[in-house]
Amino acid sequence: MPLLEIRDLTVRFAAGKGEARIIDGLDVRVGQGEMLAIVGESGSGKSVTALSIMGLLPEQARVGRESRILFDGVDLLTLSPAAMRARRGKEIAMIFQDPMSSLDPCYTIGDQLIETLRAHQRVSRAEAWRQAVALLKQVRLAEPERRMKQYPHQLSGGMCQRVMIAMALITHPRLLIADEPTTAVDVTLQAQILALLRELNQQMGITIIMITHDLGVVAELCQRVLVMYAGGCVEYSGVEALFRQPRHPYTLGLMNSRPTLARIGQTLTPIEGNPPDLARRQPGCQFAARCPQAMPVCRHDAPALNPVADDHWTACFLAEKKAP
Ligand SMILES: Nc1ncnc2c1ncn2[C@@H]1O[C@H](COP(=O)(O)OP(=O)(O)OP(=O)(O)O)[C@@H](O)[C@H]1O
Ligand SMILES: [Mg+2]
Repeated sequence: MPLLEIRDLTVRFAAGKGEARIIDGLDVRVGQGEMLAIVGESGSGKSVTALSIMGLLPEQARVGRESRILFDGVDLLTLSPAAMRARRGKEIAMIFQDPMSSLDPCYTIGDQLIETLRAHQRVSRAEAWRQAVALLKQVRLAEPERRMKQYPHQLSGGMCQRVMIAMALITHPRLLIADEPTTAVDVTLQAQILALLRELNQQMGITIIMITHDLGVVAELCQRVLVMYAGGCVEYSGVEALFRQPRHPYTLGLMNSRPTLARIGQTLTPIEGNPPDLARRQPGCQFAARCPQAMPVCRHDAPALNPVADDHWTACFLAEKKAP
């Protein structure tokens, strides 16, 4: 049984007088101990997917009645707010896109760690202090004792990011969702934070969902990849197969829009056109309007997610045509 299984997730938000289907029948499976990447352009629904798992969607979000988010076999969508809070505290943790937004500027790093620790364990302040320092060491924050007494604004973005990771590890979660954990930091720190996440995955066996724009990060770190477009999965595969033979034109476009050494100084070629307006979804494949290989059928029928090879799935009529 996978640790996490999302079935037919649909999330709608009010948009003007109507509704926008932000997540559209998404299926995801994450095995115990796996590191899954979710990639896709801005607005494709990566963060909304993460918030759905966390039970942290804003109140106005509407989740489809047929949707299931099974964690260890239990449907999180059926839990009471209190039961969900307990799980979120203990078994599922998340590192957010913007580290500063989730640290309280008015409290020291130490106070925030200690308070979170003591909300989960009955330990003395002295013991909580000791554990907090140990956690900061574990996430390789230099001078942990000194940092404990500092406020978030006294730390760099990269240090705050480490504190966030320490905070997420307090309860020894089984699933860690890292939402673009390296967008706010420079390249060197980025590499260090990614190395840290890899260590957590390999040495502590924490299952990780890594949300990123960066296909380099995916190739480096993750075993499986889910490519999202307009709130749906367009391709899902082991990382090697995805890079060897991407089957969806959108995935191909993402790969071609990557900056590479050979292209330094040249302008990037992002995928042409804009993401669809989700409040006015067109019939057919959501990518058809931007797809260089679109066929007439793509504009009226939506392709289903189908296997194209062992352990490799895509939602594209082209792949169906080419399949043996
Ligand atoms: N609270 C909300 N109310 C209405 N629409 C929302 C809300 N939160 C997100 N959305 C919409 O949902 C869509 C997906 O947003 P989401 O934040 O999941 O994208 P993302 O893939 O994480 O993008 P990014 O890479 O920029 O972080 C966007 O069109 C966004 O405008
Ligand atoms: Mg996001």
